[in-house]
Parts: sequence; structure tokens; C-alpha cells
Amino acid sequence: MSSFYITTAIDYVNGSPHLGHAYEKVLTDVIARFRRLMGDQVFFLTGTDEHGQKVQQSARKKGIPPQQFADEVTAEFKAMLPRLAITNDDFIRTTEERHKKVVRAILQQLFDRGEIYLGEYKGFYSTRQEQFLQEKDRNPDGTWPEIFGEVTAIVEHNYFFRLSAYQAWLVDFLKANESFIFPKYRQKQVLEFLKEPISDLCISRPRERLEWGIPLPFDEKYVTYVWFDALLNYYSAVADKPGLWPASWHVIGKDILVPPHAVYWPIILRAAGLPLPGGIVAHGWWTSSGAKMSKSTGNVLNPLELADEFGVDSFRYFLMREMNVGQDSDFSREQFLVRYNGDLANDLGNLVNRTLNMANRFGGGVLPAAEVSEEPEAELKALWERTHAEFIPLCEGFQFHSALERLFAFVKAINAYIEKRAPWKLGKSAEAADQARLRTALATMAEALRLASTALQPVMPGTCEKIHGVLGLTPRGSWREQLAWGRGLDGSRVAASLVLFPRPPKL
Ligand code: ME8
Ligand code: MG
Repeated sequence: MSSFYITTAIDYVNGSPHLGHAYEKVLTDVIARFRRLMGDQVFFLTGTDEHGQKVQQSARKKGIPPQQFADEVTAEFKAMLPRLAITNDDFIRTTEERHKKVVRAILQQLFDRGEIYLGEYKGFYSTRQEQFLQEKDRNPDGTWPEIFGEVTAIVEHNYFFRLSAYQAWLVDFLKANESFIFPKYRQKQVLEFLKEPISDLCISRPRERLEWGIPLPFDEKYVTYVWFDALLNYYSAVADKPGLWPASWHVIGKDILVPPHAVYWPIILRAAGLPLPGGIVAHGWWTSSGAKMSKSTGNVLNPLELADEFGVDSFRYFLMREMNVGQDSDFSREQFLVRYNGDLANDLGNLVNRTLNMANRFGGGVLPAAEVSEEPEAELKALWERTHAEFIPLCEGFQFHSALERLFAFVKAINAYIEKRAPWKLGKSAEAADQARLRTALATMAEALRLASTALQPVMPGTCEKIHGVLGLTPRGSWREQLAWGRGLDGSRVAASLVLFPRPPKL
């Protein structure tokens, strides 16, 4: 059994969870469940990013201590996980002692080895926004935009991490590891970024400006820059768990790929003498009428409302079917309903009901064995073999939208098979050959449904379990074995009915 360690980004606690956060958790959960079913020993980490300016500001606005503020928002993020059927093994908070301990140890080690040095930070500072500004933030006429208020030139002593010393190494590494970043075209963007010289990274903030962070172990007058602190969560969570580091994959959004994950993180690890992760999956954004959903713009959707209204599996299906991992996708309730009514209620939901109805009506509720294999059966079986052969590699390559597209084409084909065999007509015939066809049809539709629902398990775990339940099936053997045609359901007693996807209330 090989070990597979996968992480999500850790979410900022300066706002409530929204669809973008939910998506990333669901995507990572689908990968984690898929790998588990494939036989890997999976460790799945998620968590919250609790330090920094924004959290300090939000807490001040509410008039409560930052830790209390972080506790409240983290509770919301934690509560979301079971409601989205997320199977994380651990949840890390950057305010936990186990994390701070590791961050301090690594900072000290890097400082002792001269990888971190005291330097001068020259720049412009906006007191109103409490933020450093760069030349590019100026108006074209050289003045500063109104929102910054009074801007002052300042010189500050700060600690710097020797990022630039590793630039050439990183370029070589990325060239030698072409699949480090998924999708591949993003790796090209990173190399493009690295064509310009990078500067050393300022990893400290004076405490007089920012209190809410991890104090530098070698100079308590400073706290650690929030990205340096946050990235280390992937390692700190498993530092005391032998055999887990390095991570197999980090799943993140494209906005935090360059520079934090694709530049700072590999270099921090390299400098600290730690092995690099297997790769980074950079997904795209959920947009709403074309604009990125984000806390700052406020155009956010509460994912839990959707999951509660339509069922968690329908929500997970929609996210995975609609988003081509890496690209953006626009969210609309209309599109959600198209998928819900079409793929789920019509195609899958009806298939389940027809299968149960007919097994009850023509088979006394017990599934018979297939007796004949004529063209309709041979065709359906051949389609399953093709679907199965494509499905697994598509999932391995994070192409879940295509994998589901193929799988639901198979679901449609099962419905077409039922139309073709028309058990309601065969049932009227007294001929022995027709009776054999009838039993074959009942067995074949149930077997095909068993396969389709088994393949759906990483995305729609509850639905898979319910379908297996009404088919009277107790799954045996590995998932891969269960995906083989002809594992047989004959003799199974089926349930009377199952409503999986109730008609939604009118828009
Ligand atoms: O960036 N669509 O936290 P965060 C898809 N704390 N994904 C989205 C999204 C959207 N509309 N909006 C946000 C941070 N995300 C840091 C991470 S990791 C060491 C530190 C994704 O709360 C975003 O891309 O702003 C990121 O991967 C995750 O949600 C958390 O975003
Ligand atoms: Mg963000």
C-alpha cells in the first residue's frame, strides 16, 4: 500500500466559508476518496490560516481579541466539513502550538545557517490601509490613489529569506519535473515568472505594526510574515507522523500559485533540507456573472444552503461535473437545476426507480440471473468496458468532469437498453425465449446500475451506498474488483422504491 498525503489550502479566517472554499474541499475529498478506493493509505489535511493583518483588522472591527475572532470563524469552517461529506483526517490551525513550534524551529534553523538575514526595507506605507505600497500602486500621474490616504516613505529593518539564491535551482527543478504543477500550462507561467530576477523575501513584520503572528525566535520584536507561517502548515501537521512527508499533492486555487506555492514553498523546503511534494494542483475560480466570488467583493454563495436544499451528493456532483479542474466556471442556480433535473433526477433517479419497479413487478422482488446475451446486452457490456477503461485514468489525471460525463453517458445507455428490451412487452409474451430475455433484462439493468453507482462512489458516496442498499447488495472485494462486469446480483432481494432526487420547489 502506498501512502498518499493530500492537502487543501488553509482558509483565511477573515470571512465565512463560501462556494470557492467548499469547492476546494470537495475536489480534494474526491481525490482522497478515489485514492483510498484504489488502495492507497490516504492522509487528508485541511485547516485555517489565522494570523496576519487582515485577521487583526477584522477582530478589531468587532472589538474582540484576534484569537476569539479566529476561534469563531474556524468553528464555521470546521462545521462545513461533515455537511459536505469531507473525509479529512486532520485539521490544522496556524494558532496551534504544534504548528508554531515547527515554524519557530525552521526559522531558527534557517537563521543559524545564514539563510535569513537582517536587512533594510525601503518603501511606501499607507497608514489608512496598514499596507506597504509599491511603485506600481501609483496613479499614472505619479500620485497615490485616494483609498491609501496619507502615504509616507519609510525605511524599516526587517528579516529577509534568501529566495534569490535558489532561483536557478528552482528553474532547473521545474524543467526537470514537467508535471510538478497541474494543469501543465500553469507550470509554463511559473517559468515565465522566473525569467525576471526574484528578490529576497521579507519574512518579518515589526510588532509595533502587527501583533498577530508568530514571534521570530531570534528576535521577539518581530512576528513572522503570514505566508511563511501559513505554508509550513503542510509540514507542521505531519512533522511527528513518520512516513507522511512529503505530501503527494497540494490542492490550491490559481490565485495563490505564483509566487507563494510555486516559488516560496519549494525554496523554503529546499533551504530547510526537506523533500519537495509530488506536485501542486491549481484549480480555477467559481465566478458569479464573470467575477471571482470573494469575500472582498461580497458576491458569494453560501455552499451549505445549496447542499442542504438539494442534498450534499447533488452539490458535489454539480461541482465536479461542471468544473474542468484548472479553468474557471460560472455558477448559477439555473445551471445547477439543469444538472439536477437532467443528469440526476431524470437519468439516474429514474433508472433506479425503473430497475426496482420492474424487478418487483416481473421478478417478485428478487433479481434473476442473466441467461442470454444478445445484441442489446453485448452493446451495453461493451460500452461499460470502454467507460471503465477511460474512467479510472481520467480520475487519476484530475479530469473528473470528463469522467462523470462518460459515466452519465453510460447511465443514459442503460435507460436506452431498457427501452430497447421493453420488459413490459416481454412480460406479456408466454414464449420461453421471451421469458429468458425478460429475466436477462432485469439482471442486466441491475448489474449496469450496480457498476455505475459503484463508479460514482468518490463523488456521490451517500448515493452509491443507498443504491447498493436498495439492490440488496453487500459489496465484496476491492473497488477495482467491484467495477468488473458480472460480479452478479442474482438472488438479491431489492427494495420497493427509492426517491433519490425529489423534484425541487419552483425557482
Ligand atoms: O488564500 N473559486 O486563503 P483564502 C475557487 N490563506 N476557489 C476559491 C475562490 C473561488 N471563487 N475563492 C477562494 C488563502 N478560493 C490563504 C491560503 S495556503 C498555505 C494559504 C480558494 O481563504 C483559494 O484559491 O483566501 C484558496 O486556494 C482557498 O480558496 C482559500 O482562500
Ligand atoms: Mg483569497
